[in-house]
Amino acid sequence: MKLFKDKEESLNSAAVPSHIAIIMDGNGRWAKKRGLPRMAGHTEGVKTLKRIARYCGEIGVKYLTVYAFSTENWKRPKEEIDNLMKLLKLYIGDFKKDGNVDNICVKVIGDVSRFPDDVQKEIADVMEITKDGTSICLNIALNYGGRAELTYVMRKIAEKVKNGEITADMITEQMLSEEMYTAGMPDPDIIIRPSGEQRLSNFLLWQAAYTEFWYSDVLWPDFKPEDLDKAIADYNNRERRYGGI
Ligand code: IPE
Ligand code: IPE
Ligand code: MG
Repeated sequence: MKLFKDKEESLNSAAVPSHIAIIMDGNGRWAKKRGLPRMAGHTEGVKTLKRIARYCGEIGVKYLTVYAFSTENWKRPKEEIDNLMKLLKLYIGDFKKDGNVDNICVKVIGDVSRFPDDVQKEIADVMEITKDGTSICLNIALNYGGRAELTYVMRKIAEKVKNGEITADMITEQMLSEEMYTAGMPDPDIIIRPSGEQRLSNFLLWQAAYTEFWYSDVLWPDFKPEDLDKAIADYNNRERRYGGI
């Protein structure tokens, strides 16, 4: 059952969270269940990402942040990492090939300097090509880790103190937020994790202070717009209190 009977209703609904974050997990298990190589799950996961990003744009979500490769994912076998890089290049390259038909603005968060040069080039091109996209801002977290992000921000602020630009007592929460990869964006309203795991795995540690969590046993390649509707419906039944009464 769809939460929204039609697109019109969904677009008029004030209940749609403005920022949704997703930990795209379960690709490997999806493949294993079918006796397929893990890459088949990742390939299917990319199709799900395309579908869900389009749907989020249609229902009026302003920001979608997806966790695609963590700072800890380098622990995986080299073959899987190499193939993930190839898949990423293909996915990113599609924005060029298809002329950004979904009018998405793509931004990569994380440190991609460790990625192959050709992948970095593709990422830079696509961020440039899509920078005026108005339907939705799609943040793709690549070589992203919440702790790495905080370390990066602290280094930047320490430099400012060292240069005499600011003194230590001038450091505020606002200042940290403005140095994060997500500067200028609202914190995520909801973090969705498919595949049954109930942990953050180093995702958006700073930004998730008051984010609502939603877990599902559905594996990411099987995740449908209807599952997103369920998450949004649950989200709308939560009371966000931010420490108040
Ligand atoms: C998530 O799926 C994708 C990445 C981390 C790149 P997994 O590859 O973690 O899938 P499972 O958890 O092994 O099923
Ligand atoms: C989190 O999934 C990272 C991404 C989805 C990119 P993992 O599969 O790496 O997380 P753990 O190892 O189960 O915590
Ligand atoms: Mg996993």
